[in-house]
Amino acid sequence: MSFTAPIPIIGASHVPGLRLDPDWHRKSVFYEVMVRSFVDSNGDGFGDFQGLTSRLDYLQWLGIDGIWVPPFFQSPLKDGGYDVSDYQAVLPEYGTIDDFKHFVSEAHARNMRVMIDLPINHTSDQHPWFLASREDPEGPYGDFYVWRDTDEGYPNVRIIFVDTETSNWAFDSVRRQFYWHRFFSHQPDLNFENPAVHDAVYDIVRFWYDLGVDGVRLDAIPYLYESEEGNGESEPATHQFVRDLRRMVDDEYPGRVLIAEANQWPAETAEYFGTAEEPECHMAFDFPTMPRIFYSLRAQNASELQRVLAEQVEVPPGAAWGVFLRNHDELTLEMVSEEYRQAMYGWYAYDPRMRSNVGIRRRLASLLDNSRAELELANALLLSLPGSPFLYYGDEIGMGDNIWLDDRDASRTPMQWSPDRNAGFSTADPGKLFLPPVQSLVYHYTSVNVEAQMAQASSLLNWMRSVLHVRRQHPVFGLGTITVLETDNESVLAFVRSYGGDGTYHGPKEEHVLCVFSFSHNPVHVTIDAPDWSGAALHDLFGGGQFPTIADDGRFSLTFGTQSFYWLHIGSQA
Ligand code: BGC
Repeated sequence: MSFTAPIPIIGASHVPGLRLDPDWHRKSVFYEVMVRSFVDSNGDGFGDFQGLTSRLDYLQWLGIDGIWVPPFFQSPLKDGGYDVSDYQAVLPEYGTIDDFKHFVSEAHARNMRVMIDLPINHTSDQHPWFLASREDPEGPYGDFYVWRDTDEGYPNVRIIFVDTETSNWAFDSVRRQFYWHRFFSHQPDLNFENPAVHDAVYDIVRFWYDLGVDGVRLDAIPYLYESEEGNGESEPATHQFVRDLRRMVDDEYPGRVLIAEANQWPAETAEYFGTAEEPECHMAFDFPTMPRIFYSLRAQNASELQRVLAEQVEVPPGAAWGVFLRNHDELTLEMVSEEYRQAMYGWYAYDPRMRSNVGIRRRLASLLDNSRAELELANALLLSLPGSPFLYYGDEIGMGDNIWLDDRDASRTPMQWSPDRNAGFSTADPGKLFLPPVQSLVYHYTSVNVEAQMAQASSLLNWMRSVLHVRRQHPVFGLGTITVLETDNESVLAFVRSYGGDGTYHGPKEEHVLCVFSFSHNPVHVTIDAPDWSGAALHDLFGGGQFPTIADDGRFSLTFGTQSFYWLHIGSQA
């Protein structure tokens, strides 16, 4: 099967007017894809923009509205491209600026948005700014980084990459001073106390918005500023910088968005939305909910998830969470208690090789032991949460990982398109590939691949596509509020997503959907309390089947098979 030919779109109904819609980011399902991992169009062993562009039809067929591409800039690739040495050049292995522009226009032609990723907290130590800074302290770049004579400053700041780093300071033998780095020592932090750094960052942001991108992910945003007293995370000056940047984006690029990568506790993460009067980012990744989903699956207990969702801070108008199960990083366990962390290591990272820093470097399917029931349950929950879902490439077919590769490369292997050589990813000599495709017993590319799953109506890929298309028919999932309900079974999570309608003729209509998930590993019967909905009729969102009406006292009962869910339309009183 050729993936270069357009794949017919069966039943894909895009939300009308998405391109002009100021709420587009709240109605979208995003797909994270690392350029080097998707499709190699020229046989050099690296994925590239021409390859990615050739599979936009696949993403459209799947039901994707936006694509997030992690850094694809010039880089020594010591941190997957998050170590940038030129922010305004495409890494030659990935193509050219023209290839990028073509990719953006082809995505737009399919009604898909493009979100890029800007690591502005730090650069590569190969960036010309750093080379100049270390050589000429008095020159124009002398103050671009955070230099000190000793390695004693900022004592309260934690180390993030605990597997490789022992200090946030590193000695530079040229300048004979220490420089500050929050991540790898080859990634010196930019000095945001220097206004010239702000100007340089604004130039980069404008450069990419001018090329037509729709959104920018602000990588590692909490770490821009540090202070002697603070812990170097979300310092007031960092929020001020984000507020100023937002004002610039709203003034010069209305309709484009910023998304915060802030791996923080719930209240601190929510601060990256700012307020209605002083907004910061349009979106922020929801780090606290994600690990609690994995916890609930194994603990068969939804109470912690219920608590987090019930306490979820309301976002300012127009803002949205970005929800996800997995991404290109380890499944971070930084934002859970020590007790939860140890439990999750025991369940999900029983082999020490599966761990990375404070987290687990595995893919969704292998975390869930390839259980179809768990994959459906986890994905359905993801697609029901308040916010816009971000899928990670390959998870739609249940790709596995390779824990024998270094660090997070374990889950950045080539996309598995077909059972052919190199999984259909590349025509290169297999030894030339940037990473080998997965060849493990369970997840080998000869059995787990797009072509095979397209040929099987009941495959995970086809299930994902159907669920995405059902979700698309119900804007309540993107726009609605959440009300968590009480249940009499601790393994069952129930909530109502509600949208009051926007009052316009073309806008989405009022809608209420009850989402219920059973994490139990056995069948269960549950009674749910929905006091606001007494007498309401319930219908299954997939097949339309009628369920028992909610009783006058607001209670109703449901029976679940093992690890399953319902999406039920709440209709007017029966
Ligand atoms: C990215 C990582 C990267 C780190 C340092 C993160 O937040 O997601 O992949 O290693 O920033 O740039």
